Amino acid sequence: MLSSAHAVRILPKPPKRAREAPAPILLSPPHLTGREKVEIEASLASGWLAPAGPTPRAFELALAKATGFDHVLGVASGTAALTLAFRVLEIGPGDEVWAPSFTFIASIAPAVQLGARPRFLDVCPGSWTLDAALLATELRAAARQGRLPKAVVAVDIYGQCAALHEIAPLCAEFGVALISDSAEGLGATQAGLPAGKGALLAAFSFNGNKIITAGGGGALASDNAMLIARARALADQAKTPAPHYEHQTTGYSFGLSSLLAAVGLAQLPKLADRVARRRAIFARYQEGLEDLLGISFMPEAAWGRASRWLTAMLIDPASFGMDADGLRRILAAEGIETRPAFKPLHMQPAFRDAPSMGGAVAEALFARGICLPSGSGMAPEAQYRVIRAICAAARG
Ligand SMILES: Cc1ncc(COP(=O)(O)O)c(C=O)c1O
Repeated sequence: MLSSAHAVRILPKPPKRAREAPAPILLSPPHLTGREKVEIEASLASGWLAPAGPTPRAFELALAKATGFDHVLGVASGTAALTLAFRVLEIGPGDEVWAPSFTFIASIAPAVQLGARPRFLDVCPGSWTLDAALLATELRAAARQGRLPKAVVAVDIYGQCAALHEIAPLCAEFGVALISDSAEGLGATQAGLPAGKGALLAAFSFNGNKIITAGGGGALASDNAMLIARARALADQAKTPAPHYEHQTTGYSFGLSSLLAAVGLAQLPKLADRVARRRAIFARYQEGLEDLLGISFMPEAAWGRASRWLTAMLIDPASFGMDADGLRRILAAEGIETRPAFKPLHMQPAFRDAPSMGGAVAEALFARGICLPSGSGMAPEAQYRVIRAICAAARG
């Protein structure tokens, strides 16, 4: 006869109920409107699939309205839009292009690929965007030494516009072209104007994580018809109108497919709603985390209304109890996706030889910054899960 002790040893253990992993919470997944299918079907019915025809044109016109620019070209990505911006300004070997250090590499990479030398400038702690006072100082010094840049790229960060009301007059004073990388800025405003407005050229992105997505795609906008006409030709292999293919220069295959334009067309009318939702998400994080020590949120610049595309915050490890990377790992283990703040471009191996003017602010943002899940489709319950996980991490 088996004693109960034996029974414990030889009987198979009852299977443990596997704990169901909670659904992952992503940083900024696409938020569909329900109209994407309708627009795609309408586009298919038009008989056009190519990056031409009525749907890309309708998307461009809708974008012109949303961005306040007179002329818009839809392209395959934000990076393609930036490439065309640098090309139409004829940037090449021997030219300098200036950009903030705290940004995504695509703000400057196409200029470097065209042979330009990058120079990085620090950002303001009050906005995390290009420091206009530093830009003024550097432009004056460069003018004295006869080495002005051919273009300055101002960048909207995490849904916060750069101070174009200060940067555009400075660039005009020194005869330097201003490009706004507004890939992250759509829906935000600066000095009462839409993101990018006031720059000679502005680039937008509709990749999967953006506030409005086309499932990929971008746009180049300007009030200068000639620049957009030139970009349009370059985006289509620089064909000149001739029955055969005739090329004065080389271009790209950067067109925006009709199907992607259809998705963008369905999404764009929701822009104001998406901004409101992302701002509400930011406010909920602020409210839920305000009692924790060692957390501060990305400030809203005095000159604009941010879209809060991503909620970004800084962690002071001494008072929070761990650094931003520690928090990122804990949240990742809970199925919560976050992203470190940008590693400054002047710290990137790809740009090890590029001059950097200042950089301490960008470095501090990188050391302490983290972006939280901010998708406009995120349910409040999911967001409370993120808030609870951060509070638990803070308690240790
Ligand atoms: C600041 C910035 N610039 C440029 C881009 C490039 O856009 P895309 O991914 O559409 O090429 C992005 C987004 O990825 C971005 O965040």
